[in-house]
Amino acid sequence: MPGMQQGLVISHNQVNRDMFELEFIAPEIAEECQPGQFIHIKPGLRDQPLLRRPLSIYDVDKRLGSVTLLYKVVGTGTRLLTSVRTKEYVDVMGPLGRGFKLPDQPERILLVGGGVGIAPLVYLARVLEEQGCDITVLHGTESRRQLVAFEKLRQIGTDFFPATMDGTAGYKGLVTELLLKKIEPKKLDRIYTCGPEPMMAVVAEFAANHNIEAEVSLEEYMACGVGACLGCARKLKTNDTQYVKVCKDGPVFNIKEVELYK
Ligand SMILES: Cc1cc2nc3c(=O)[nH]c(=O)nc-3n(C[C@H](O)[C@H](O)[C@H](O)COP(=O)(O)OP(=O)(O)OC[C@H]3O[C@@H](n4cnc5c(N)ncnc54)[C@H](O)[C@@H]3O)c2cc1C
Ligand code: FES
Repeated sequence: MPGMQQGLVISHNQVNRDMFELEFIAPEIAEECQPGQFIHIKPGLRDQPLLRRPLSIYDVDKRLGSVTLLYKVVGTGTRLLTSVRTKEYVDVMGPLGRGFKLPDQPERILLVGGGVGIAPLVYLARVLEEQGCDITVLHGTESRRQLVAFEKLRQIGTDFFPATMDGTAGYKGLVTELLLKKIEPKKLDRIYTCGPEPMMAVVAEFAANHNIEAEVSLEEYMACGVGACLGCARKLKTNDTQYVKVCKDGPVFNIKEVELYK
C-alpha cells in the first residue's frame, strides 16, 4: 500500500550542472519499493506549487530504510526541490505505479537509458543482480558529465557502456547506434528501457525484430499520481479505444503495447 510520509533527508548532492541526488529515510516506503515504481514528492513545504512531482525510485537501501531519487532541474518544482537541506524533511508519497516485471530465473538482460531516464534502471539493475542476472547497460547522454549513474552501476556489477554525443566518454553518437553496432541479440533474453521516446522507439524496433521481451517506462504529466484524476491518461496506440492511466496502469508497460514516436 502506498504511504505518505515525511522523509528525513540524509544527503542531497548536486551531481552536475543541473542534476541532483536526494536520499531520504522513510523505512515503510523503502520496504515496499519495487523497481520501476515512483515517488510523488511535494517540491516545497508551502502550498505552491500545489502538485507533487513524480520521480523514479533510483536506489533503495532497505537496511537503512532509505530511498534515493535522481532528478534533473527543468522547472518550478524541481528548482524548488534543490533548496531542501540535509536533516530537513520531504513530503513523499509512494511507492506508486506498476514497476518492471522481473524474470522468474536468472537471465541475460539489457538496460538502455537515455539521459535522466537511467534513474529507474539503477534500482532495477540492483535487484536483477541479486537474482543472478547478467546485466549490460547502455547509457546515452550529451557528455560524460551526465553519466552520473556510472559508479553505482559499476559497483552493482553491470557491464556498462556509455554513448556521448560529444565523444567525451565511450561511443561518440547516439546510444541507439551503439545498441545496433554492439549488442548481439542472440545473447539477450530481455530488455528494459527508459528515456526519450525516439530512443525507446528504436529499442522497440530492435526488440521486435529479434523477438526479445521488452518493457518501457513512460513519462506523462501527472497530478494525483494514484489513478483518481485522469491527469495522466494516454492511449498506448493511436487506434486504441481506451485510455490507460500511466500513474496506475504504468509507468511501465510491455513495449509491444506502446506506440512510440521517433
Ligand atoms: C513516472 C515518472 C517518473 C519520473 N522520474 C523522473 C526522475 O527519476 N528524474 C527526473 O529528473 N525526472 C523524472 N520524471 C519527470 C519529472 O516528473 C518532471 O521533470 C518534473 O515533474 C518537472 O517538474 P517541474 O515543476 O520542475 O517542471 P514544470 O515547471 O512542471 O515543467 C518544466 C518543463 O518540464 C516539462 N515536463 C514537466 N513534467 C513532465 C513530464 N512528466 N513529462 C515530460 N515533460 C515534463 C514541461 O513541459 C516543461 O517544459 C518522471 C516523470 C514520470 C511521469
Ligand atoms: S495522475 Fe491522476 S490519474 Fe494519473
